[in-house]
Amino acid sequence: IDPRLDLHDEISRLKRERNAVLLAHYYQDGDIQDLADFLGDSLQLAQQAKKTTADVILFAGVHFMAETAKILNPERIVVVPDLAAGCSLADGCPVDRFRAWRARYPGAAAISYINCSAEVKAESDYICTSSNAEKIVRAIPEGQEILFAPDKNLGRWLVERTGRPMRLWQGSCVVHETFSLRKIVALRERHPDAKLIAHPECEEPILRMSDYIGSTTALLKYTTADDALKYIVATESGIVHQMRKASPHKEFIEGPPEGNCACNECPFMRLNTLEKVYLALRDLAPRLEMAPELRERARVPIDRMLALS
Ligand code: 13P
Ligand code: SF4
Repeated sequence: IDPRLDLHDEISRLKRERNAVLLAHYYQDGDIQDLADFLGDSLQLAQQAKKTTADVILFAGVHFMAETAKILNPERIVVVPDLAAGCSLADGCPVDRFRAWRARYPGAAAISYINCSAEVKAESDYICTSSNAEKIVRAIPEGQEILFAPDKNLGRWLVERTGRPMRLWQGSCVVHETFSLRKIVALRERHPDAKLIAHPECEEPILRMSDYIGSTTALLKYTTADDALKYIVATESGIVHQMRKASPHKEFIEGPPEGNCACNECPFMRLNTLEKVYLALRDLAPRLEMAPELRERARVPIDRMLALS
């Protein structure tokens, strides 16, 4: 890339030329968030992908999100900045093991968190995201057994919230497991006026201490509506960019990881850069392509989720 190029201008120009829409998740770098046509949590991004009339969807997020956009838009071109942007939850739930697990519990309803592959979606009855998971669990008839995959932390929290027992797949998010309970306790002592807010992918001891738990959008909304002036934010640090923009007078402390690393940044989400966004628009590559049969099967539980959301 010519270093003299103004990437902001070039991306805006290419978006117009290609009739492209840039959808971005809150865990993207701030400069990508600032250029997005639509920014949201996993559910809002899926809903927006379904609504769009653009010819090209440029999805700045991770693979399973772009895959969902393609499932909902088989006729549109879906491009991503980096095809290698995966997710530890999706990686920890290979379809052959998932299929074998399901087969052990005939008659059970299988709810899969949207953070899974299209192959696993195709084997599931319902998809959910962190913002609608409770509603989806409650939609399963009382008495029917429920399997929940792949996030054991979100699953355990849902069992507690809904009172519905569920069999949990033992997967987790590398980012949300990194937060240090010890450091959070110390931070709360140093900042007794700060509220602790957390994503339900966090581990149980952190959720137990939290003042509020929700999806990225729910956390953002909470910090704008609530009257506290200080928050400790236990989720991927990208969301803090929007929190600071929405409430410049408030203080946001990023949830501290154990060890001296930037592990509160998702290593997959952060593979995407402004340069790669530009190249994806310029070259209309890399593209998300899927076999029609898989796409159609994976769409069924996604449509069930969207109908209930
Ligand atoms: P939400 O977008 O539902 O808040 O989930 C966060 C996440 O982990 C996406 O990978
Ligand atoms: Fe997956 Fe966790 Fe990254 Fe979200 S933050 S994409 S759940 S690894």
